[in-house]
Amino acid sequence: MSNSAPAKIILLGEHAVVYGKPAIAVPLSTLRAQAVVEWLEAGAGLHIEAVDLNEVLPVAINAETVDNALALTAQKILKVLGLAPPDALIRVSSTIPMASGLGSGAAVSTAVARAVLEATGTHISTEQLNSIIYEIEKVYHGTPSGIDNTVIVTEKPVYFVRGAPIETLEIGTALTFVIGDTGDASPTKLAVGDVRELVRHQPTQFQPILDGIGGIVAAAREAIRTGDVVALGELMTQNHAYLQALTVSSASLDGLVEAAMAAGAIGAKLSGGGRGGNMIALTRPDNAEEIHKALKKAGAVHTYQTEVKP
Ligand code: MEV
Repeated sequence: MSNSAPAKIILLGEHAVVYGKPAIAVPLSTLRAQAVVEWLEAGAGLHIEAVDLNEVLPVAINAETVDNALALTAQKILKVLGLAPPDALIRVSSTIPMASGLGSGAAVSTAVARAVLEATGTHISTEQLNSIIYEIEKVYHGTPSGIDNTVIVTEKPVYFVRGAPIETLEIGTALTFVIGDTGDASPTKLAVGDVRELVRHQPTQFQPILDGIGGIVAAAREAIRTGDVVALGELMTQNHAYLQALTVSSASLDGLVEAAMAAGAIGAKLSGGGRGGNMIALTRPDNAEEIHKALKKAGAVHTYQTEVKP
């Protein structure tokens, strides 16, 4: 059986969500991480193959392999649940670009965790899986809010507040988004760490930005609930300006946001950690093709499209 997990995209609220403000994110189900279980002979132990890297790794059981997220995921799942390692090879592959704000790390961990559960014949709740993946996210991302793992594990649109119970987003009308990848890899951990320094050292300048983003997300939840697409687009564009002020945009991201708006997008902003990675534009469905073309012309290395449905 194939165990899989989707990519995710943040619609609004990134960075401020680390400080307790709300954020809105949706799964991007066409991009996925997969983990397939192959049974091995008795005594062979557990092995993980990173298919895209052509690498097979035995999973040590009494140690933590922190330099390999795949092995660490398997180790944590076995340890937390008190399971014996199965005799199996887990083959992992992913179509989600790495370090681009689409949650590739959390998706790969989730797929591996599901494969280990399958190989050991174990069932756990979505909440428990989510909290285990969050522990793994913390190892690699410093102080993550938990939004990535929550969207990826539940595969549902969420209105997320750190530490609060998971709230599925209410959607009044179908929304079409086009996503543009700058092609600039940007580890989220660095951008999150830089923002932390700014907030710590210049709170009077940066705390109002976080508060402003929080207000935008609350208004956006209402716009999404009532199907007010124009208001939502305006809020996304305002959110981008706040993210620029937080220093997490880049010339490539700004260039793609401007190109999308010039091609008729209703709103556009960077998405995720920023400094590179992806941006997202809200569009009328009949104008989506124009946005793809404009983003490619402005230098996007990939474009994607997703529809968020009621
Ligand atoms: C990363 O997808 C979103 C950030 O807000 C970090 C986080 O929430 O952990 C930048």
